[in-house]
Amino acid sequence: MSIVVTGATGHLGRHVVEQLLDKVPAERITAVVRDAAKAADFAARGVKLAVADYNAPETFDGLFAAGDKVLLVSGNEFDKGRVQQHKVVIDAAQAAGVALLAYTSAPGSLTAALADDHRATEEVLLASGLPYTLLRNGWYHENYTENLAPVLEHGAVVQAAGDGRVSSAARADYAAAAVAVLTGEGHENATYELGGDEAWGFAEYAAELSRQTGKEIVYNPVSPEAFAGILAGAGLPGPLAAILAGVDASAEKGELVVSSGDLSRLIGRPTTPLAEAVTAALKG
Ligand SMILES: NC(=O)c1ccc[n+]([C@@H]2O[C@H](COP(=O)([O-])OP(=O)(O)OC[C@H]3O[C@@H](n4cnc5c(N)ncnc54)[C@H](OP(=O)(O)O)[C@@H]3O)[C@@H](O)[C@H]2O)c1
Repeated sequence: MSIVVTGATGHLGRHVVEQLLDKVPAERITAVVRDAAKAADFAARGVKLAVADYNAPETFDGLFAAGDKVLLVSGNEFDKGRVQQHKVVIDAAQAAGVALLAYTSAPGSLTAALADDHRATEEVLLASGLPYTLLRNGWYHENYTENLAPVLEHGAVVQAAGDGRVSSAARADYAAAAVAVLTGEGHENATYELGGDEAWGFAEYAAELSRQTGKEIVYNPVSPEAFAGILAGAGLPGPLAAILAGVDASAEKGELVVSSGDLSRLIGRPTTPLAEAVTAALKG
């Protein structure tokens, strides 16, 4: 019986494998990757690698075994039909008879188009009859803190979220929740609404950036249309820019506030404050 993690060479997946290595023997962990070379460090530490692609169902043949616990990390290829991609993994897991399939979803409160693939994948998973865990991950701190260059250059945080608040947490926090589910008991058929302990607004975020950089950084709220235009102007494909602007519109409505307390309860500690992620990003 293995713990199998897809998307293991992505940002979240790497945190999950690293944290699993602290808790279970390496030979019990299988990292599903598209490019084994990107996971050479894991292999060197004894993690098993399986090379597979959500776009090639045959690559998942025989990958899972009965009794495995699987983390399906949602894909990032918005133009390739993510629901069908995720179904490939769910079908293979069902055929093998895995003990649990945990899926990294989106908050139940999120109505933005970004959530559509997640809701549809949840339906496929529930229809499969597999024991499941829905890890409805809120927003990552890093969505903001890893994109500081234009903010520092212009002295402005530009978003379309109005006075909306966001309960973000560090990727490492969401990874810790996944690890708790994969290594713990009693998470079958549970849905967790995961988010940071503290919700914050973009004016506060700008103030925190000012405090830590010593420069004046303001929040400049714009309309979703203007924001989509700015993102497209910065090189994002138009459809993705529209999706991200839609997330901001949802944030303005309060849809990225998660107040369940599920994340800190699952990980057994407070979530990482946004200010810490800012500090880490400014150092990096
Ligand atoms: N909650 C949030 O704030 C937030 C923000 C952004 C994204 N997300 C979602 O959460 C997921 C994990 O976040 P992340 O930061 O780790 O994203 P990421 O770094 O972009 O990682 C995505 C992972 O999915 C894998 N993947 C993509 N297409 C695949 C395919 N066709 N077959 C097999 N694997 C495939 C990638 O493989 P490679 O390593 O080979 O590229 C990568 O490991 C994202 O994919 C996205 O669905 C959530």
